[in-house]
Amino acid sequence: MDDNLVVQAENIKKSFGNNTVIKDISFNLKELENLSIMGRSGTGKSVLIKSLVGLIIPDSGTLNVLGENVLDMDDDEIDEVRRQVGYLFQGGALYDSMTVERNMKFPLRRHPNKPSESEIADLVDETLENVGLIESKSKYPSELSGGMKKRIALARTLIMRPKIMLYDEPTTGLDMITSGEISELILKMREEYDISSIIITHDVSCVELTSDRVIILAEGGILAEGSFDELKNHDDKKIRAYFTMADKKQKNEG
Ligand SMILES: Nc1ncnc2c1ncn2[C@@H]1O[C@H](COP(=O)(O)OP(=O)(O)OP(=O)(O)O)[C@@H](O)[C@H]1O
Ligand SMILES: [Mg+2]
Repeated sequence: MDDNLVVQAENIKKSFGNNTVIKDISFNLKELENLSIMGRSGTGKSVLIKSLVGLIIPDSGTLNVLGENVLDMDDDEIDEVRRQVGYLFQGGALYDSMTVERNMKFPLRRHPNKPSESEIADLVDETLENVGLIESKSKYPSELSGGMKKRIALARTLIMRPKIMLYDEPTTGLDMITSGEISELILKMREEYDISSIIITHDVSCVELTSDRVIILAEGGILAEGSFDELKNHDDKKIRAYFTMADKKQKNEG
Protein backbone atom coordinates (compact mmCIF):
# COMPACT_ATOMS: atom_id res chain seq x y z
CA MET A 1 0.00 0.00 0.00
CA ASP A 2 1.10 3.54 -0.78
CA ASP A 3 2.69 5.11 2.31
CA ASN A 4 0.54 8.20 2.20
CA LEU A 5 -2.78 6.42 1.85
CA VAL A 6 -4.60 5.65 5.09
CA VAL A 7 -7.61 4.18 3.27
CA GLN A 8 -7.51 2.35 -0.02
CA ALA A 9 -10.79 0.92 -1.30
CA GLU A 10 -10.96 -0.87 -4.62
CA ASN A 11 -13.97 -2.16 -6.54
CA ILE A 12 -16.24 -2.28 -3.52
CA LYS A 13 -19.63 -3.85 -4.19
CA LYS A 14 -22.53 -4.28 -1.77
CA SER A 15 -26.11 -5.48 -2.13
CA PHE A 16 -28.77 -6.16 0.48
CA GLY A 17 -30.96 -8.84 -1.10
CA ASN A 18 -32.13 -7.37 -4.41
CA ASN A 19 -31.09 -3.88 -3.44
CA THR A 20 -27.71 -3.18 -5.03
CA VAL A 21 -26.44 -0.20 -3.07
CA ILE A 22 -22.82 -0.05 -4.20
CA LYS A 23 -22.13 -1.28 -7.73
CA ASP A 24 -18.45 -0.49 -7.94
CA ILE A 25 -16.63 2.13 -5.92
CA SER A 26 -12.91 2.76 -5.61
CA PHE A 27 -11.48 5.62 -3.59
CA ASN A 28 -8.69 6.48 -1.22
CA LEU A 29 -7.91 8.79 1.66
CA LYS A 30 -4.50 10.39 2.02
CA GLU A 31 -2.81 11.05 5.31
CA LEU A 32 -4.11 14.31 6.88
CA GLU A 33 -6.62 14.76 4.09
CA ASN A 34 -10.23 15.83 4.64
CA LEU A 35 -12.39 14.04 2.09
CA SER A 36 -16.10 14.85 1.78
CA ILE A 37 -18.63 12.37 0.48
CA MET A 38 -21.83 13.87 -0.90
CA GLY A 39 -24.81 12.19 -2.51
CA ARG A 40 -28.56 11.92 -2.19
CA SER A 41 -30.21 10.01 0.60
CA GLY A 42 -29.88 6.25 0.15
CA THR A 43 -26.86 6.31 -2.17
CA GLY A 44 -24.81 4.22 0.25
CA LYS A 45 -22.66 6.86 1.93
CA SER A 46 -23.13 5.42 5.42
CA VAL A 47 -22.81 1.85 4.11
CA LEU A 48 -19.48 2.76 2.54
CA ILE A 49 -17.91 4.18 5.69
CA LYS A 50 -19.38 1.47 7.90
CA SER A 51 -17.48 -1.02 5.76
CA LEU A 52 -14.20 0.69 6.75
CA VAL A 53 -14.65 -0.44 10.35
CA GLY A 54 -16.21 -3.84 9.68
CA LEU A 55 -19.77 -2.84 10.60
CA ILE A 56 -20.81 -3.85 7.08
CA ILE A 57 -18.95 -6.41 5.00
CA PRO A 58 -18.79 -5.67 1.25
CA ASP A 59 -19.68 -8.51 -1.14
CA SER A 60 -16.43 -7.99 -3.03
CA GLY A 61 -13.50 -5.66 -3.47
CA THR A 62 -10.41 -4.87 -1.46
CA LEU A 63 -10.25 -2.57 1.50
CA ASN A 64 -7.13 -1.40 3.28
CA VAL A 65 -7.29 0.79 6.38
CA LEU A 66 -4.04 2.01 7.96
CA GLY A 67 -2.16 -0.56 5.93
CA GLU A 68 -4.28 -3.53 7.02
CA ASN A 69 -6.71 -5.55 4.96
CA VAL A 70 -9.94 -5.16 6.94
CA LEU A 71 -11.78 -7.78 4.89
CA ASP A 72 -9.57 -10.49 6.28
CA MET A 73 -9.59 -9.88 10.02
CA ASP A 74 -10.76 -11.67 13.11
CA ASP A 75 -12.75 -9.87 15.82
CA ASP A 76 -9.69 -8.81 17.82
CA GLU A 77 -8.01 -7.35 14.76
CA ILE A 78 -11.12 -5.42 13.73
CA ASP A 79 -11.42 -4.09 17.31
CA GLU A 80 -7.88 -2.77 17.00
CA VAL A 81 -8.84 -0.95 13.77
CA ARG A 82 -11.91 0.51 15.52
CA ARG A 83 -9.72 1.94 18.24
CA GLN A 84 -7.78 3.86 15.61
CA VAL A 85 -10.73 4.94 13.52
CA GLY A 86 -13.16 7.27 15.26
CA TYR A 87 -16.75 7.16 14.05
CA LEU A 88 -19.15 10.02 14.71
CA PHE A 89 -22.42 8.28 13.94
CA GLN A 90 -25.28 9.90 12.10
CA GLY A 91 -27.39 10.92 15.12
CA GLY A 92 -24.30 10.69 17.35
CA ALA A 93 -26.03 9.30 20.44
CA LEU A 94 -24.76 9.89 23.96
CA TYR A 95 -25.81 7.76 26.92
CA ASP A 96 -28.72 9.71 28.42
CA SER A 97 -28.30 8.29 31.90
CA MET A 98 -24.65 9.34 32.16
CA THR A 99 -23.15 12.78 32.69
CA VAL A 100 -20.88 14.22 30.02
CA GLU A 101 -17.89 13.17 32.11
CA ARG A 102 -19.03 9.54 32.35
CA ASN A 103 -19.94 9.49 28.67
CA MET A 104 -16.37 10.57 27.94
CA LYS A 105 -14.79 8.01 30.24
CA PHE A 106 -16.86 5.14 28.92
CA PRO A 107 -14.81 4.19 25.81
CA LEU A 108 -11.49 4.63 27.64
CA ARG A 109 -12.48 2.37 30.51
CA ARG A 110 -13.20 -0.39 28.02
CA HIS A 111 -9.83 -0.01 26.34
CA PRO A 112 -7.54 -3.06 26.71
CA ASN A 113 -4.56 -0.85 27.59
CA LYS A 114 -6.71 1.18 29.91
CA PRO A 115 -5.02 4.36 31.19
CA SER A 116 -5.06 5.01 34.96
CA GLU A 117 -8.08 6.84 36.40
CA SER A 118 -6.05 10.03 36.83
CA GLU A 119 -4.81 9.81 33.24
CA ILE A 120 -8.40 9.27 32.12
CA ALA A 121 -9.50 12.35 34.10
CA ASP A 122 -6.79 14.44 32.43
CA LEU A 123 -7.73 13.17 28.96
CA VAL A 124 -11.38 14.02 29.61
CA ASP A 125 -10.50 17.57 30.70
CA GLU A 126 -8.09 18.18 27.85
CA THR A 127 -10.51 16.91 25.22
CA LEU A 128 -13.47 18.83 26.65
CA GLU A 129 -11.35 21.99 26.68
CA ASN A 130 -10.56 21.39 23.02
CA VAL A 131 -14.20 21.23 22.01
CA GLY A 132 -14.97 24.21 24.25
CA LEU A 133 -17.27 22.39 26.66
CA ILE A 134 -15.35 21.86 29.86
CA GLU A 135 -18.08 23.69 31.77
CA SER A 136 -20.61 21.03 30.74
CA LYS A 137 -18.67 18.20 32.36
CA SER A 138 -21.25 17.34 35.01
CA LYS A 139 -24.32 17.95 32.85
CA TYR A 140 -26.62 15.27 31.44
CA PRO A 141 -27.23 15.08 27.67
CA SER A 142 -30.85 16.27 28.15
CA GLU A 143 -29.46 19.57 29.48
CA LEU A 144 -27.41 20.19 26.30
CA SER A 145 -28.37 21.75 22.96
CA GLY A 146 -28.08 19.75 19.72
CA GLY A 147 -24.80 21.46 18.85
CA MET A 148 -23.35 20.78 22.27
CA LYS A 149 -24.34 17.10 22.07
CA LYS A 150 -22.56 16.84 18.72
CA ARG A 151 -19.44 18.37 20.19
CA ILE A 152 -19.52 16.00 23.16
CA ALA A 153 -20.04 13.01 20.86
CA LEU A 154 -17.07 14.24 18.86
CA ALA A 155 -14.98 14.70 22.01
CA ARG A 156 -15.88 11.19 23.16
CA THR A 157 -14.56 9.84 19.87
CA LEU A 158 -11.45 12.03 19.90
CA ILE A 159 -10.50 10.94 23.38
CA MET A 160 -9.34 7.67 21.82
CA ARG A 161 -6.88 9.72 19.74
CA PRO A 162 -7.92 8.16 16.42
CA LYS A 163 -5.74 8.36 13.34
CA ILE A 164 -8.79 8.53 11.09
CA MET A 165 -12.16 10.16 11.79
CA LEU A 166 -15.36 9.22 10.01
CA TYR A 167 -17.98 11.95 10.36
CA ASP A 168 -21.48 10.89 9.30
CA GLU A 169 -23.44 14.12 8.76
CA PRO A 170 -21.84 16.05 11.59
CA THR A 171 -23.86 19.23 11.03
CA THR A 172 -27.27 17.90 10.04
CA GLY A 173 -30.06 19.36 12.15
CA LEU A 174 -27.94 22.26 13.40
CA ASP A 175 -28.42 25.94 12.58
CA MET A 176 -25.92 27.57 10.21
CA ILE A 177 -23.80 29.18 12.92
CA THR A 178 -23.54 26.02 15.01
CA SER A 179 -22.79 24.04 11.83
CA GLY A 180 -19.98 26.47 11.10
CA GLU A 181 -18.58 25.88 14.58
CA ILE A 182 -18.59 22.11 14.03
CA SER A 183 -16.80 22.58 10.69
CA GLU A 184 -14.18 24.74 12.41
CA LEU A 185 -13.78 22.05 15.03
CA ILE A 186 -13.18 19.40 12.35
CA LEU A 187 -10.33 21.56 11.01
CA LYS A 188 -8.96 22.30 14.47
CA MET A 189 -8.94 18.63 15.45
CA ARG A 190 -6.98 17.73 12.34
CA GLU A 191 -4.30 20.24 13.39
CA GLU A 192 -4.36 19.19 17.01
CA TYR A 193 -4.28 15.41 16.57
CA ASP A 194 -3.03 14.82 12.98
CA ILE A 195 -6.25 13.20 11.89
CA SER A 196 -7.29 12.17 8.37
CA SER A 197 -11.04 12.45 7.89
CA ILE A 198 -13.96 11.36 5.78
CA ILE A 199 -16.92 13.70 6.14
CA ILE A 200 -20.32 12.65 4.85
CA THR A 201 -22.42 15.75 4.47
CA HIS A 202 -25.16 17.56 2.56
CA ASP A 203 -23.99 20.82 4.08
CA VAL A 204 -22.33 22.81 1.30
CA SER A 205 -20.63 25.25 3.64
CA CYS A 206 -19.24 22.36 5.68
CA VAL A 207 -17.77 20.88 2.47
CA GLU A 208 -16.36 24.25 1.46
CA LEU A 209 -14.78 24.91 4.86
CA THR A 210 -13.37 21.50 5.67
CA SER A 211 -12.59 19.57 2.51
CA ASP A 212 -9.53 19.11 0.38
CA ARG A 213 -11.39 16.80 -1.98
CA VAL A 214 -14.99 15.84 -2.65
CA ILE A 215 -16.61 12.67 -3.98
CA ILE A 216 -20.23 12.58 -5.10
CA LEU A 217 -21.98 9.20 -5.03
CA ALA A 218 -24.86 8.36 -7.35
CA GLU A 219 -26.39 5.18 -8.68
CA GLY A 220 -23.98 2.93 -6.88
CA GLY A 221 -20.85 4.61 -8.17
CA ILE A 222 -18.82 7.79 -8.08
CA LEU A 223 -20.51 10.50 -10.14
CA ALA A 224 -17.74 13.05 -9.67
CA GLU A 225 -14.52 13.69 -7.80
CA GLY A 226 -12.55 16.89 -7.39
CA SER A 227 -11.98 19.94 -5.23
CA PHE A 228 -14.95 21.92 -3.93
CA ASP A 229 -14.37 24.65 -6.52
CA GLU A 230 -13.98 22.20 -9.40
CA LEU A 231 -17.25 20.45 -8.62
CA LYS A 232 -19.20 23.57 -7.72
CA ASN A 233 -18.24 25.11 -11.06
CA HIS A 234 -18.40 21.88 -13.07
CA ASP A 235 -19.53 21.97 -16.73
CA ASP A 236 -22.17 19.35 -15.97
CA LYS A 237 -25.15 21.04 -14.36
CA LYS A 238 -26.17 17.77 -12.73
CA ILE A 239 -22.99 18.01 -10.66
CA ARG A 240 -23.35 21.73 -9.96
CA ALA A 241 -26.85 21.02 -8.66
CA TYR A 242 -25.45 19.28 -5.58
CA PHE A 243 -24.09 22.65 -4.52
CA THR A 244 -26.76 25.07 -5.66
CA MET A 245 -29.80 23.14 -4.45
CA ALA A 246 -28.35 22.79 -1.00
CA ASP A 247 -27.38 26.48 -1.02
CA LYS A 248 -31.00 27.42 -1.59
CA LYS A 249 -32.18 25.05 1.09
CA GLN A 250 -29.80 26.57 3.59
CA LYS A 251 -30.80 30.10 2.73
CA ASN A 252 -34.43 29.17 3.32
CA GLU A 253 -33.60 27.62 6.66
CA GLY A 254 -31.48 30.57 7.71
N1 LIG B 1 -28.00 -3.17 7.34
C1 LIG B 1 -28.73 -2.99 6.25
N2 LIG B 1 -29.57 -3.94 5.80
C2 LIG B 1 -30.29 -3.74 4.68
N3 LIG B 1 -30.26 -2.64 3.94
C3 LIG B 1 -29.45 -1.66 4.33
C4 LIG B 1 -28.64 -1.76 5.50
N4 LIG B 1 -27.93 -0.63 5.64
C5 LIG B 1 -28.28 0.15 4.61
N5 LIG B 1 -29.18 -0.45 3.81
C6 LIG B 1 -29.74 0.10 2.56
O1 LIG B 1 -28.67 0.62 1.81
C7 LIG B 1 -29.07 1.82 1.14
C8 LIG B 1 -28.08 2.90 1.44
O2 LIG B 1 -28.13 3.23 2.80
P1 LIG B 1 -27.18 4.30 3.46
O3 LIG B 1 -27.57 4.36 4.91
O4 LIG B 1 -25.77 4.02 3.16
O5 LIG B 1 -27.63 5.63 2.72
P2 LIG B 1 -27.01 7.09 2.87
O6 LIG B 1 -26.40 7.46 1.57
O7 LIG B 1 -26.15 7.14 4.08
O8 LIG B 1 -28.35 7.96 3.06
P3 LIG B 1 -28.67 9.18 4.07
O9 LIG B 1 -28.17 10.42 3.38
O10 LIG B 1 -30.17 9.18 4.14
O11 LIG B 1 -28.04 8.91 5.37
C9 LIG B 1 -30.49 2.10 1.59
O12 LIG B 1 -31.34 1.64 0.58
C10 LIG B 1 -30.64 1.29 2.84
O13 LIG B 1 -31.97 0.89 3.01
MG1 LIG C 1 -26.33 8.00 5.92
